[in-house]
Amino acid sequence: MVEYLKNICVDKIVLDAGCGTGKFLNILEENSKKYIGIDILDKQLEKAKKKSKKNNSSFICSNLSEINLKDNTVDLVISSWVLGTVIDLNERTRCLNELKRVLKPNGIIILIENDLGGEFEEIRNRTKDNRTLDYNNWILGNGFKVEKRIKTFFDFKNIDIARKCFDIIYGNDIASKIKNRIVKHNIIIFKYLKTE
Ligand SMILES: C[S@@+](CC[C@H](N)C(=O)[O-])C[C@H]1O[C@@H](n2cnc3c(N)ncnc32)[C@H](O)[C@@H]1O
Repeated sequence: MVEYLKNICVDKIVLDAGCGTGKFLNILEENSKKYIGIDILDKQLEKAKKKSKKNNSSFICSNLSEINLKDNTVDLVISSWVLGTVIDLNERTRCLNELKRVLKPNGIIILIENDLGGEFEEIRNRTKDNRTLDYNNWILGNGFKVEKRIKTFFDFKNIDIARKCFDIIYGNDIASKIKNRIVKHNIIIFKYLKTE
């Protein structure tokens, strides 16, 4: 995935939508023309800013449903594990429409998301409740195509640390299902091309 992101952002103005603490910030900053990080949470954004090494990078604390950027401003939007956290469908659609609005013609939106299958989905009951399936179908219904599927895994130092991390995020019922320090995880990359 790192290789994929490195290549796709070369010479582009990149918007990292819902950048969080800046997981991909350094890769995107290093290889792009300009990096813009947006997140609704100031605390997350402050951590991202500390990772930044380029003077021309900028950070905006804002809801993606109202982005303070002009139409047709960025060449590439990268958004990893963000829109799925917006549960209200109207609000999620507003966020996606904003990403499309600030994108230049021939610009690209890349959504990095969880794919079906794999232990990570199974442990979090996503195979049963169809949440990933419904969300990924919503993406496909909004003009995106599947660009790439990546089989990867979380590699914890030991099973106790794995359970502790899952416990903090998802609670003990889910954490106790972990049987190995390695948790298999499938990732899917969706791509949208702005044609008009
Ligand atoms: C699961 S985290 C992913 C963060 C980062 N993209 C990554 O891959 O590590 C989701 C992020 O989206 C942000 N977020 C959620 N809804 C948002 C919204 N409506 N507008 C802006 N940011 C939002 C959250 O604050 C959080 O930082």
